[in-house]
Formats: sequence, C-alpha cells, structure tokens
Amino acid sequence: TRPLKVALLGCGVVGSEVARIMTTHADDLAARIGAPVELAGVAVRRPSKVREGIDPALVTTDATALVKGGDIDVVVEVIGGIEPARTLITTAFEHGASVVSANKALLAQDGAALHALAEEQGRDLYYEAAVAGAIPLIRPLRESLAGDKVNRVLGIVNGTTNFILDKMDSTGAGYQEALDEATALGYAEADPTADVEGFDAAAKAAILAGIAFHTRVRLDDVYREGMTEVTAADFASAKRMGCTIKLLAICERAADGGSVTARVHPAMIPLSHPLASVRGAYNAVFVESDAAGQLMFYGPGAGGAPTASAVLGDLVAVCRNKLSGATGPGDSAYTQLPVSSMGEVVTRY
Ligand code: NDP
Ligand code: HSE
Repeated sequence: TRPLKVALLGCGVVGSEVARIMTTHADDLAARIGAPVELAGVAVRRPSKVREGIDPALVTTDATALVKGGDIDVVVEVIGGIEPARTLITTAFEHGASVVSANKALLAQDGAALHALAEEQGRDLYYEAAVAGAIPLIRPLRESLAGDKVNRVLGIVNGTTNFILDKMDSTGAGYQEALDEATALGYAEADPTADVEGFDAAAKAAILAGIAFHTRVRLDDVYREGMTEVTAADFASAKRMGCTIKLLAICERAADGGSVTARVHPAMIPLSHPLASVRGAYNAVFVESDAAGQLMFYGPGAGGAPTASAVLGDLVAVCRNKLSGATGPGDSAYTQLPVSSMGEVVTRY
C-alpha cells in the first residue's frame, strides 16, 4: 500500500509533538491505519530554528506550495489564528487533502463555511484537539451521543486559566507569575489575552454548543467574561463560603428546545463539587442528556503531548477514511436555532 502523505503546518508546542509521535509510533500508526504515514513537509515561520527529530530537508516557509504540491493526503494545521490558517485549509480541500486542525479560534469563526467546503469537495475536517486538549469530546458528542438529546454542556475548557486560578488559590501566587509559568509550559495561546479574557473558552463553547445542539454558534454569540479581575480577596471570600473560583463555559438548550445559550465567566464552585478538584491545566466537562443522564469528561486540557494525542487520533481516523473512500460524519444536518448569551444566570454551582 502506498504511504499516506501528511503535510504538517506549524511545528511549535503542538506540531513538534505531532511530528515526534508520528516518528516514534510509525509502526503502530501504520498498523492501525492499514498503510504507512509519511511526513511530506513541515511548514514553519522560522526555518533556521533547530527542531529536534525533524529532517531539515522537510522544513519550508512556503506552506501554500507544500499544500498545493506533492499529492498531500492530509494536512495537519497547527499554526493557529485566522490567516493564513483559513486559506491553507481551503487550499488543502481544493487540492484533494483532508484536514486535521487544533484551531478553535478559526473553527468558532468560520467552522460552518469550512465544513460546507469540506463536504462539497468530499474531504474530512476533524478537530478533536480544538476543545479540551487530550479529552475526547467532539467525537463523543458528534458520534456516541448522536442518538441522544444533549441539553447542557458545562465545564472548565481552558487549561491556562485553570492553571492560573489554581496557583492563585492553592499557593497564593500572583496572577502574572502564574500566567508566565503557564506560558512557559506551553499551555497559553500565542497571545495569552485569548486565554485570560475568555476568548479561547468562548470559542470552545461555540464549537461545543454547535455540535451538541445540532446548530450553529459563533464566537460572537457567546457571552464572555475573562478572569483577569479575579483577585486574592475574591479567593478569600470564596473560601469563607466553602467555594473556589473557576472559569466556566456553559452551553444550554432552552427547555422548549427552541433556542440555545452559551456563556463563559468565572463562577463560585463549592469545594464539594468535582469541578473544584480540577487542578493545573486539566479540564473537566459535564454533558447532560435525556437518556445518558450526566457524563463527565476529564483530563489534560492543554500542552504539546496531550494535544498531539488528540491530533493523532484524528489523523488515524482521516487516513482510514482516505483509504476506504469514505468521509466521517460532517456537519450538514443542523437547524439554525436562535442563540442568546443570556441563560439562567448562575454564579454558584
Ligand atoms: P505555537 O505558537 O507553539 O506554534 C505555532 C507554529 O506555527 C510554529 O511552529 C510557527 O513557526 C508556525 N507558524 C506561525 N505562522 C506561520 C505561518 N505563517 N506559516 C507557517 N508556519 C507558521 O502554537 P501551539 O503549537 O501552541 O498551537 C498551535 C495551534 O494549536 C493553535 O491553534 C492553538 O490554539 C492550538 N492548541 C494549542 C494547545 C496548546 O496547549 N498549546 C492545545 C490545543 C490547541 P515557528 O516555529 O517558526 O515560529
Ligand atoms: N490555550 C489553551 C488552553 C490551549 O490553555 O486551554 C488548549 O486549547
């Protein structure tokens, strides 16, 4: 069987781990997929940077040429941001490649158009890594729960802010000191404003609400409050009430099913609640549905290797589809419901 050719766009915190696992797990991946997977090129911004384990001959600054040339089967986009990621993804579809992405900012803004183009061209668009790092959440919502009716998705979906809030609460660390540590550990976005002002969690809430409720929700639909104004005094007050403070994303379907709400804001969490025990850059998400009841998804929500795990899972799925000529479940069956950022306002769980 011919090798499947993969173009890796971005080789930073996540991309370098994707490349490492593709190399170290090459035999296992080939066995799972039914064909070997070949890294055909790695697009970066700074070609002279030393990248351990990457053949320098594969490195290019011309991501467009990499995507257009060379019969690429799968493009893995881990550059981040809106452009050039969006154009590279659409170019990939037009040149025969399916796409795996970790880019929640782009998907929360343009997911509908990207899905439509993927379906039109008969390609896959998978993005398990875009929400909650290593935690399987997109595919369980899209596939495992497809026969159930999801009513609420609620939890901690940003590792950086959970790391900062946890440090502030448990060690008394200052906000900036904790943010610097989260950045050094590779948890924060290129511009950490996205994390601390809640944009990243809001993008994830938009993606989760869209999939869970079979509708379209965009970043702008999500009420958003970050955590930059949470102080040591707030933690002291929370403690007196037997609580801690977490940044929550909350997506709800209205009781009559006719609308949805999505919002992100800090909330008081009783210490007895499982969300209070989510430490460091871990995430935890509760999904409530008619038949299943309450499910909890928990695990590492950020970082190179955990995120690469989700990317590789998608890569295996997309490669299998390539070989069988199938495409995975797309996004075409949806009803546009009114989206409101105001739901039941709950500041204590
Ligand atoms: P990094 O900033 O570490 O890496 C970005 C990579 O993209 C770098 O290799 C950079 O090149 C490359 N790059 C930037 N601009 C261009 C361009 N114009 N053309 C080609 N390459 C370019 O980001 P992360 O790895 O942390 O994040 C990547 C994506 O994954 C983002 O969408 C992020 O939101 C998402 N994500 C990140 C997680 C994390 O924990 N870090 C978790 C889940 C998702 P160079 O190396 O030369 O600078
Ligand atoms: N910056 C993001 C976070 C990366 O901290 O959760 C994972 O999506």
